[in-house]
Amino acid sequence: MEIRDWALQILSADRLEDKLSCPEVLTDLCPGPAIFWKEPARPPGMGFEKHTRRDKLPPASEMHNPDKRAVCLHRFAGHELLAVEIMAYALLAFPEAPPHFRKGVVHTLKEEQEHVRRYQKRLLEMGVQFGDLPLYRHFWAYIPHLKTPLQYISTLSLTFEMANLDFAPFYGAVFAENGDTLSCQLMEGIFKDEIQHVSFGYRWLKNLKNPLDPNWKTWKESLPSIVNPSRAKGPVFYPNHRLLAGLDQEWIAYLKNLS
Ligand SMILES: [Fe+2]
Ligand SMILES: [Fe+2]
Repeated sequence: MEIRDWALQILSADRLEDKLSCPEVLTDLCPGPAIFWKEPARPPGMGFEKHTRRDKLPPASEMHNPDKRAVCLHRFAGHELLAVEIMAYALLAFPEAPPHFRKGVVHTLKEEQEHVRRYQKRLLEMGVQFGDLPLYRHFWAYIPHLKTPLQYISTLSLTFEMANLDFAPFYGAVFAENGDTLSCQLMEGIFKDEIQHVSFGYRWLKNLKNPLDPNWKTWKESLPSIVNPSRAKGPVFYPNHRLLAGLDQEWIAYLKNLS
């Protein structure tokens, strides 16, 4: 199957299994003209709901309650599905990107599909079906602003996925403190993959940027104005997790001082 057709299938599918399926062999012979997809189709009952203040994630102090943990896991599963779709967006939007870049996005997309499955499985163990709770547009709000590979990696890999280097271990620790070892292990697996996803973004930022500009400056200037750079951080800032992704000290210091 052509990468383009696979991406089209993911974005236009109204069955979850079609969004999570991947053919054995993917080719990229006809990346085609660029398509800037506006909004993904969704399975019945999995459309985007309006996000209000009341829909904030339950606080860590309530995580002794398994229902509240399931609310968090369901939200994270929603983020993974958004990542699947946004990576499909990138494959359609950037047909002229270097073949290695496209291969990297394909690889990451497959891992995001696997992340959805892992959350889906854990939710089922907790008595919740993925789609039972509200799902939100979140990252899709920024996607119309992503017109180049550099803007894409700066926003997705180096901001939203970067933040997960804080969020995933933070929630993993909270779940463990409340005796939920399985959910903690799930977060550990996600965290491990996320390091690679951020690293992919970092390598490509260096490849695509003006060599005279500092990395962090290129990142900041490539972010759409509606994305606050502080979105690259979670509730606790872990500089060493950025080091694992290969980030340079100058950028980590810049992030640390962001508020
Ligand atoms: Fe993921
Ligand atoms: Fe990721």
